[in-house]
Amino acid sequence: MKRFHLPGQKRLAFTVALWTSATILLVITMPGAGPELRIWTAETLKDWELPLANPAYSQIPVSESFYYSLPTRVIYKTYPVYHPDHEPKGYQEWLKQQEPEIVFEPAKLKTEADWVKAGEMLFDFPIDTDGAIISAEEVTSREFYTYTDMPLTPEGIMPYARWVVPEKGKVLLGNLSCGMCHTRVQPDGTVLKGAQGNFPGDKAFAYAIRNAPEKSVREITTILFGSPWAEGDPHSALTAKSRADILAAYEAVPSGAFGRQGTSILFPPQIPDLIGVKDHKFLDKGGLGRHRNIEDMMRYIAMNQSLDFLNTYGDFHPLGLTKDQLNQKKPIEFSGTLDRHSDEQLLAISRFVYSLQPPANPNRPNALTERGKTLFAQEGCVTCHTPPLFTNNMLTPADGFVIPEEHYKKYDIFDISVGTDPSYTLKTRRGTGYYKVPSLRGLWYRSPYFHDASLARLDDVLDPARLKAEYVPTAFVGAGIKNRAVPGHEFGLELNQSDKQALIAYLMTL
Ligand code: HEC
Ligand code: HEC
Repeated sequence: MKRFHLPGQKRLAFTVALWTSATILLVITMPGAGPELRIWTAETLKDWELPLANPAYSQIPVSESFYYSLPTRVIYKTYPVYHPDHEPKGYQEWLKQQEPEIVFEPAKLKTEADWVKAGEMLFDFPIDTDGAIISAEEVTSREFYTYTDMPLTPEGIMPYARWVVPEKGKVLLGNLSCGMCHTRVQPDGTVLKGAQGNFPGDKAFAYAIRNAPEKSVREITTILFGSPWAEGDPHSALTAKSRADILAAYEAVPSGAFGRQGTSILFPPQIPDLIGVKDHKFLDKGGLGRHRNIEDMMRYIAMNQSLDFLNTYGDFHPLGLTKDQLNQKKPIEFSGTLDRHSDEQLLAISRFVYSLQPPANPNRPNALTERGKTLFAQEGCVTCHTPPLFTNNMLTPADGFVIPEEHYKKYDIFDISVGTDPSYTLKTRRGTGYYKVPSLRGLWYRSPYFHDASLARLDDVLDPARLKAEYVPTAFVGAGIKNRAVPGHEFGLELNQSDKQALIAYLMTL
């Protein structure tokens, strides 16, 4: 019988919810880093994130003292997970013989290269071993791989999860490394770290919780996506449905997109390409996190590797924590799963992310791409997708969002709505009312496209048929939906077929 895991970014959240109903004591541990590396302070958090589209519900993060009272993560050596048909003989027995090895020791890091190497290891280090998304049961089952159409490397490795050995004889399946969502396996088996990931994560999650009680499925879905203040409250409408309907919503998210906590499985964000993110001024589709320096990147990582579950949104708290608990006036007991990266660990990961380089592009410039380049300028694409970054690094307002006057002074705003679906940015806990202008670098090695991953190919982006209600989106469609328009971003739609080919050929060289 399947042991029930409350999963997701997911089980952690639920565990916290349970703790809070118990009585308890707040254990203050020592801060993890020296003052020069203190990324979570009232001052630095003040204007780091944008307000939400409805500012009355803007996120309020936990305080500095709360943050630094969380224990820091211990980083153990990890091992690859193989498809059952490819696992070397005796591998599990061998893993049981391994001694635990602590592999992150900041005192030993001297050069930039040392930090990047340590950061890469941390990038692949799972922060959860409680079956947050999938468990040992899934990765040892052939059915799971078939069901999810799981990409594998030529060696038969499933590169999105790792085995962790925290004690000799204890071999745990680890989830939620950066690499779980930010690794791409190409059709030829090449592994691209940091590129738009293609772990079929929500499908895998749906499989893992297929036998979970209905009540738990509802609760976890609210913890992950609840945004009761949003117009029409789509997530409460979802959780009022049957278990089968909720699971169908997870299943509907294609690889290349992921319902990260605070976003949605109804309007899931495309997984961003982290190669080149060093130069981007806003993080997340709506630009929620500003990115002015490496410390902002560290804050973003800390926040997204679970701290945002502790944010308060107006009168809503994802885990149901009270103000007294968050102010440490009423205690909460932390179990081992509620923890954080140390500031040095965050620095190492960020340095690795900054070091990411694109793979060599096989699409070389030629007469056709040169013609495409001219069209790219003529059609005005350059205004927003400005070389060399192929983004002007600005925010565009979504339809239905009225830009508050003070935003013009604070943020880089290009005041034209491109008219794409506004749901993610108006109705989720990460929605700011804007969509940032994405970079077009690396389009050739990744997809699907648009903030909601609706379109599989560049031809689809330039296909006017997508504006009609009878269109069938080629990537994310949505549960129970047969056809719908993919509106907005009408640039280049009126070009003739030959010009479109030239434009696409050019885009594939970026
Ligand atoms: C469970 C999947 C998952 C995990 C684990 C994960 N990410 Fe992400 N990440 C996403 C998704 C999905 C987004 C897009 C979120 C959005 O736009 O709302 C994202 C966004 C980002 C962004 C913003 C980039 C941009 O251009 O907007 C950065 C940076 C990032 N992740 C880095 C990391 C790092 C580093 C780790 C590990 C410490 C990590 N992520 C772990 C899924 C994940
Ligand atoms: C007014 C600014 C603007 C102009 C002009 C513009 N774009 Fe965009 N582009 C955007 C924004 C904003 C998005 C993100 C929209 C979304 O996903 O909701 C985007 C997304 C894209 C994407 C999808 C990228 C991805 O990773 O998903 C492609 C491809 C693209 N644009 C190509 C073009 C081309 C080609 C032109 C010219 C024919 C063009 N754009 C003109 C603002 C613009």
